[in-house]
Amino acid sequence: MQNFHLVPYPEQLVVTSGYATADAKISEKENSAFKKESYHLKITENEIFIEGDKAGIFYAHITLKQLRLQFGDTLPCMEIQDAPRFAHRGFMLDSSRHFLPKEDVLRIIDVLALFKINRLHWHLIDDQGFRVEISAFPKLTEIGSVRGRSHFGLVDEYKNNCGYFTQTDIKEIVAYAKERMIEIIPEIEIPGHESAMLAAYPEIGCQNAPVEVVTTGGIFDNLICAGKEESFAFVTKILDELIELFPYEMIHIGGDEACKRKWRACPDCQKKIKELGLKDENALQQWFVIKVQRYLKEKGKTAIVWNDSLRGDKLPEDCVVQMWMGDKDLIAEFAERGGKIIQSSTESFYLDYPYAMWDVQKILNFKLCPDFLAGTDAIIGVECPLWSERVLDLDREFYQMIPRLPAMAECGWTAEHARNNDSFIDRYTSIDAYLQTQGICGAPKEYWNISPKLAEQDMDNYNKTIYTPEYSAEMERQEAMMAIEREIYGDER
Ligand code: ACM
Ligand code: ZN
Repeated sequence: MQNFHLVPYPEQLVVTSGYATADAKISEKENSAFKKESYHLKITENEIFIEGDKAGIFYAHITLKQLRLQFGDTLPCMEIQDAPRFAHRGFMLDSSRHFLPKEDVLRIIDVLALFKINRLHWHLIDDQGFRVEISAFPKLTEIGSVRGRSHFGLVDEYKNNCGYFTQTDIKEIVAYAKERMIEIIPEIEIPGHESAMLAAYPEIGCQNAPVEVVTTGGIFDNLICAGKEESFAFVTKILDELIELFPYEMIHIGGDEACKRKWRACPDCQKKIKELGLKDENALQQWFVIKVQRYLKEKGKTAIVWNDSLRGDKLPEDCVVQMWMGDKDLIAEFAERGGKIIQSSTESFYLDYPYAMWDVQKILNFKLCPDFLAGTDAIIGVECPLWSERVLDLDREFYQMIPRLPAMAECGWTAEHARNNDSFIDRYTSIDAYLQTQGICGAPKEYWNISPKLAEQDMDNYNKTIYTPEYSAEMERQEAMMAIEREIYGDER
């Protein structure tokens, strides 16, 4: 049987007889009664008819574009009824660790659109760089977006360490994405991963301690001081500007990997814990996150948090949790209360890891709803983060993304029983050839379903590290810090 080179594969495709000529007229009917993002595409000899909601019509055109890559101007007649399995099909771009400019972000958006991905989660703020202009606090980018040489495992250099997006850039990117049915979800990290923020404004950290923009990877103890009143006001002013720039329902407020060492030594944080009768620093984090979430809710926004934020008292069910690692019991409990979850398991969907660890087959075989959530409808979708410590340029970004992100798109769109590795590879190959003509090159084909021998080489390469003196000293310092954390919390992050 003919394999139609469509990724993601549609819900229902029926071949009819004949071929549509090159001059077949295209007619469209927008019908808001259609299920969200769904469409009907009917190709007959004389006419190509499309009906759907606004996004559905856009997706029908993407389907036509992919069919034309396979068949040229003469399309076989067929009828497609199509709708996504999940509402959230996302990719996370990390602009902090390395900074790719606006033009590169637009190219990434083109790739997302080609696979009907509808969310760009934009990680704009982290220890290694603050990348969005905030007019209330100009030092955030004057100081927070600048670092010199940096050291990330295999990477030791100056390239793409500095830069930020002006609000004019952001508006242009948001508009470009909107035309392609992609909502952009900005992420501001709270309360951890704040070194770049505190380098600019140490007064919102604990004890006003001086902080530098970080130049290595890892987990740091530079947290917003949750004990000071000014901290909440500072965060909400940033959020106010993000709300203006990103006119969508969701805002990501981070919440992962908050190493509480400085909170334990901070009189303001300890006073707040006592005042509120909280159990410990986890509960303080939870209190702060909920305060921010409530602020967003008043503005009509839904907060997304990494699953680490489930620790402490109960997280309200009207947050969305992005599940990446650990905390299974807490995630299950949150789901039982009706909370919604985005599936981003490190094991398959973290695209910064090498093909040796997760190749296309592994992604396609991944069960999006794990056993511990069976019987719930908690999963609202799937997302691939691509952390950029080792991603210095757009070519590397595409290498890590493609074709694993298209495989994720298939997981998010197509029914589980219809997913099949061999079929995917066959369908994807002609799309890959097209992408290459556009200068968009993913990993070579031998990596898509990687052999054990090549996986061994790939893994060796990934594990190589350049031990500059600065890198070694920083790793030692961090190891000592994390040892203190482990003494207090065991092996939990
Ligand atoms: C994460 O990877 N720290 C969410
Ligand atoms: Zn403090």
